[in-house]
Amino acid sequence: MIILCGDKEFTAAARAAFKGSKVPVSGIAATVNDLIALLESTGAAGVLMPAVAEWTENLVRLAAARKNAHFFVAGRVRKSVWDDLTEAGVVILSPDLQKAVRDMEMALERISPTGFRYVEGGEKVTIVQKRVDILTRTIPLVFSYKGGVGKTTTVANLAAATGIWARETEEETGKELRVAVIDNNSVGNLKYKFGFDSKDSDKVPRSLAGFAHLHPNSSLGAVLEAMNYHEPTNVYFVVSPETGYEKVRYNEGIFKLCLDLLQRHFHFVFIDMGIDLDSEMSILAANAATDIIVVTDRNQDTVNLIRDRRGEMGQVFGGFDRVQLVINNHKKENADIGTSAILRELNLPLAAELPYCTFTQKAVRKGVPAVALDSQDKYSISVSNLAQTLINVTGVGGHSITRSGRFIEYLKKLFKKG
Ligand SMILES: Nc1ncnc2c1ncn2[C@@H]1O[C@H](COP(=O)(O)OP(=O)(O)O)[C@@H](O)[C@H]1O
Ligand SMILES: [Mg+2]
Repeated sequence: MIILCGDKEFTAAARAAFKGSKVPVSGIAATVNDLIALLESTGAAGVLMPAVAEWTENLVRLAAARKNAHFFVAGRVRKSVWDDLTEAGVVILSPDLQKAVRDMEMALERISPTGFRYVEGGEKVTIVQKRVDILTRTIPLVFSYKGGVGKTTTVANLAAATGIWARETEEETGKELRVAVIDNNSVGNLKYKFGFDSKDSDKVPRSLAGFAHLHPNSSLGAVLEAMNYHEPTNVYFVVSPETGYEKVRYNEGIFKLCLDLLQRHFHFVFIDMGIDLDSEMSILAANAATDIIVVTDRNQDTVNLIRDRRGEMGQVFGGFDRVQLVINNHKKENADIGTSAILRELNLPLAAELPYCTFTQKAVRKGVPAVALDSQDKYSISVSNLAQTLINVTGVGGHSITRSGRFIEYLKKLFKKG
């Protein structure tokens, strides 16, 4: 049983989102006092509230006092609030209530039913053995009908900015934060952005096919084993099957398992979707995504291609609620078509315009995404801002790994290996 808090608008929307759910709504609270009374009388296992100060400012104390209930907040919060709340065991969910409700169900399912014990007399004694350990906060997916417009570059840089931020946050707060990337292109080049060398075909990255050896309850350790870790940016990634041996063994079931496991063990999962919307994998990925980024350049052909296939996109993405546009200036000389014309033709909200990055090739040579080489460059700042809006917290970016010395160490290690 769960309790919904907030104003009429929020609770009505949340109630609608819970229609047909396994979790029954046992009460609606308009004030904190209502909530306390309802918690006493119903013994609800979960509480969902909107991310507004009126509710969140009391939540740390409330969560500490009522350990039998699990508290969830739907919406965007500032980083400091997020830190305090997660510290208190509160789980922060997507502002999209459909998604929030699904995650809440999953979380409540995962909480051990033996986590509660009643002593004689009916008074509850809290022995919470297993709180919600992790819930994926954000799953941005990057797509375009056109190749070479910068999907992989964008994904790699977004993930890198998030990974660097996650490491710093972890060091400051002691809270683990994990960032993953899936390369879903049938022939992907994500690995080259994360340290693999196109001239060294002997080194083969771990691919999605490796997830065939895992199962739905696989441990974090087993999942990390199946992935590649890029130390300079603190990003785990997995590529699509590369060898013939892997390709014939790979299927949608394995991809689905990978999505499930990453959602279970990572806080942020970025997906490089490639240009194919037709495959079963794309439909699974689109279904899991919290945010969909469609990338275009300033080429009229690209814009036409995306515009003409809007219907298909709407079908696979289930409408356009989660869809935003990124205009990527991947060429120095560009200008077939300006921003306002693109927006008019594509009719999608603009998430970001990424400027031309003068050191993309250098970044690839060094085996790190550009944001990690120079955090103060205008491209890095744009990417960091985009990452920040996608993952709902402030403070991403502004630190390059070069400054912390880690990158130097990393390079030294690389060069030592020859
Ligand atoms: N903002 C940018 N500035 C400079 N070069 C870019 C930018 N975005 C992408 N590129 C370059 O454009 C090329 C294609 O990018 P890529 O990310 O591989 O595209 P896609 O994944 O859409 O096929 C790559 O050489 C990449 O380095
Ligand atoms: Mg690509």
